[in-house]
Amino acid sequence: MIDIEALLTARMQAMEPSGIRRVFELAAKMKDPINFSIGQPDFDVPEPIKQAAIKAISAGRNGYTITQGIAELRTAIAGKISTETGWSVGPECECDVLITNGTSAGLLLAYMALAEAGDEIVIPDPYFVSYPQVAAMVGAGVKYCDTYPDFRMTAERIEPLLSARTKFVVLNSPGNPSGVVLSSDELRDIVELCESRGVLLISDEIYDEFTYSDGREGGVFPTPARFSNQILLLRGFSKTYGMTGWRLGYAVGPSRLIREMTKVNQYSFVCAPNMVQHAGVVALQTDVSHHVQAYERKRDLVVERLGGVTELAHPAGAFYAFPKLPEHLGMTASKFIEKALEKNVLVIPGNIFSLRDTHFRISYAVDDARLARGLTALAELMQ
Ligand SMILES: Cc1ncc(COP(=O)(O)O)c(C=O)c1O
Repeated sequence: MIDIEALLTARMQAMEPSGIRRVFELAAKMKDPINFSIGQPDFDVPEPIKQAAIKAISAGRNGYTITQGIAELRTAIAGKISTETGWSVGPECECDVLITNGTSAGLLLAYMALAEAGDEIVIPDPYFVSYPQVAAMVGAGVKYCDTYPDFRMTAERIEPLLSARTKFVVLNSPGNPSGVVLSSDELRDIVELCESRGVLLISDEIYDEFTYSDGREGGVFPTPARFSNQILLLRGFSKTYGMTGWRLGYAVGPSRLIREMTKVNQYSFVCAPNMVQHAGVVALQTDVSHHVQAYERKRDLVVERLGGVTELAHPAGAFYAFPKLPEHLGMTASKFIEKALEKNVLVIPGNIFSLRDTHFRISYAVDDARLARGLTALAELMQ
């Protein structure tokens, strides 16, 4: 017998299995739960996107593509980002595009290219679960930017965490798990701080389309990319088009960095699935605004039902809310989710996304009737 234990790296000890999976396992044992735990939209992939993938398979688009991704998709993304930000994007430009296997792969490639043992990175707390775990994979240290109670990652809160070892700051607006959207003023201050300290800003904008009317400015989603092109943008198709299992995303940023990330991609993921990239071109032309409007109404219902019962930072984007447990309950969020389970409602405790265990995440991407029933149950539990 080979002693696998003895062969494992220290890196594996530093990494933890996702706590969200534990909640999914609990869900599997429940009969028809009201499931507020899933981080994906409840609509199916729009038909034209499905048809584009089927057509691509039938047309033999089944082999490897070049590592950077197919030219049609890269060109479409370059056009979209140029329009939104004013950046010049393309193979001969200051910034370039890399197609990735989801935003998750974009994160890993960026961390691999930029951070190693002895380096530090700054992430928000609460955070998307991968941010600290991928740091463990590359051996980098993590500084948590405490954003409680309003979940706004501001320059003022980031500044004390920067050191000579800091390589990059990860920003996520609209945020998972809070749904909070930063304003252009806040973003400009962060861009200026990072530039003045020679630190890269990585902006995870996977929820860009899910920015509601009160999170938009002049009708558009606020991105730090309006203030500088010395930023790495990570975006994806998973949430916007309900394509979580298709694994498609992209990175846009300084060409020098994109070149190195492409190198890592070449020896790891190789390329995003060929047919999915072809479908991605059609996805970019697909209007999902009716879904976004429906989610904005669901968000309104969450705020209306829970805002009066407990402290809730205003969620202006994504499809999450991160309410605080009222102190009179005298209970951690991990304990509270057991109480919620008894009412057949599944939510995720804050300690999965945070050093604290005082809040819980609701994903309100569920049908209206279930949403209303689940919110009533949660509100009763918190009274
Ligand atoms: C903030 C954030 N970033 C990245 C991801 C990863 O998305 P994907 O790899 O499916 O594009 C998620 C998924 O939940 C997320 O919430």
